Amino acid sequence: MTKKERVGLGERSYDILIGSGLLGEKAGRLIGELGCKVLVVSNRRVYSLYGGRLADGLEKAGVKWSHTLLPDGEKNKTMKSVGALHDALVDGKYDRDSLVIALGGGVIGDVAGFAAATYMRGVRFAQVPTTLLAQVDSSVGGKTGVNHPKGKNLIGAFHQPSLVIADVDTLATLPKKEVLGGVAEVIKYGLIADSKFFGWLEKNMEALVNLDPGVTAKAVGVSCRIKARVVESDERETGLRAMLNFGHTVGHAVEAVTGYTRYIHGHAVAIGMAAAAELSAIKGALSGKGRDAAIGLIRKAGLPVTLPDDISSQELISAMGMDKKAKSGSIRFILLHGVGDCRIHADVTRGQIAEALMKIRRN
Ligand SMILES: NC(=O)c1ccc[n+]([C@@H]2O[C@H](COP(=O)([O-])OP(=O)(O)OC[C@H]3O[C@@H](n4cnc5c(N)ncnc54)[C@H](O)[C@@H]3O)[C@@H](O)[C@H]2O)c1
Ligand SMILES: [Zn+2]
Repeated sequence: MTKKERVGLGERSYDILIGSGLLGEKAGRLIGELGCKVLVVSNRRVYSLYGGRLADGLEKAGVKWSHTLLPDGEKNKTMKSVGALHDALVDGKYDRDSLVIALGGGVIGDVAGFAAATYMRGVRFAQVPTTLLAQVDSSVGGKTGVNHPKGKNLIGAFHQPSLVIADVDTLATLPKKEVLGGVAEVIKYGLIADSKFFGWLEKNMEALVNLDPGVTAKAVGVSCRIKARVVESDERETGLRAMLNFGHTVGHAVEAVTGYTRYIHGHAVAIGMAAAAELSAIKGALSGKGRDAAIGLIRKAGLPVTLPDDISSQELISAMGMDKKAKSGSIRFILLHGVGDCRIHADVTRGQIAEALMKIRRN
């Protein structure tokens, strides 16, 4: 069964389709309906696994298409990759009616989306996310962009996709570590916005981690619905959208001080969510029971909840000050006021952060 979620943004509205077996004919038909010449962007690994299925669908729908493969990995989320896509679009004589399709994880989605946002001042693009993180997070919401040598995601544009097709079958080949990275973001949605979903995740975590198709499709669907509602209310992150950064202040700091090599993003966010749950309890916003439930579910998923002793609190706190999400010198935090309820706090002190970090060393 295919689930459909809609992101309602006026003339920039679009559908997110979630289910099994979408990649072939169904994807071809939907893309065909957008009626244009298509450039499929992927990397060698993902394209060798799923390019054939997408290509079959496009051929059956009579879509004119070609493809460009980018080198894999975060280190290639660069202007050089964007340039390669612009070259392919120019050389292929793509016009303003063209469609760029991102087939891959968040890196491919961010780069292809930014190339689409900038080619001829913006052409349409569709996301076909193949990692759990991309299906529940990066493919929805229209943030596109690349890294600068001095910082992650510093160059970019808001450019909403015209369609998102999340085929959960593609997750079967994803390394377990990457699956868990996406699960961390799924848990985040339950914690910040939906206590019922959180309870459902407590019961279904094992099935989700093992990618049971029905459970996975439901988790992706609810996650996309929550993200869609947040994006609808604050497309350009002037306020409420910041709640999606729950766990990310500490998470980004953990990634930065460990040189972006020791933890993948979702695992660092798991530690960051554990810290934010502790901090919420320290601030008196969250009960001890709520904190234990939050940390308990992250642990149950097999994600890290402990801050290792060789990562210094001082370094983490400095790294947080450098975070581009820190407004005017003070560190803002998204804290829980219960499972499924979060608020933005501007009055978090360094001492309170240090205390929370100390607590999660003993988890
Ligand atoms: N735009 C946004 O709103 C947003 C939100 C969150 C994250 N992001 C960005 O997303 C990126 C991370 O995305 P990611 O976690 O998907 O990483 P990724 O795109 O690097 O993919 C992880 C790895 O899995 C491989 N892979 C992808 N699909 C596969 C499949 N089905 N089977 C086997 N291997 C597969 C990829 O080739 C890659 O090696 C970061 O750059 C981050 O900044 C963007
Ligand atoms: Zn994240």
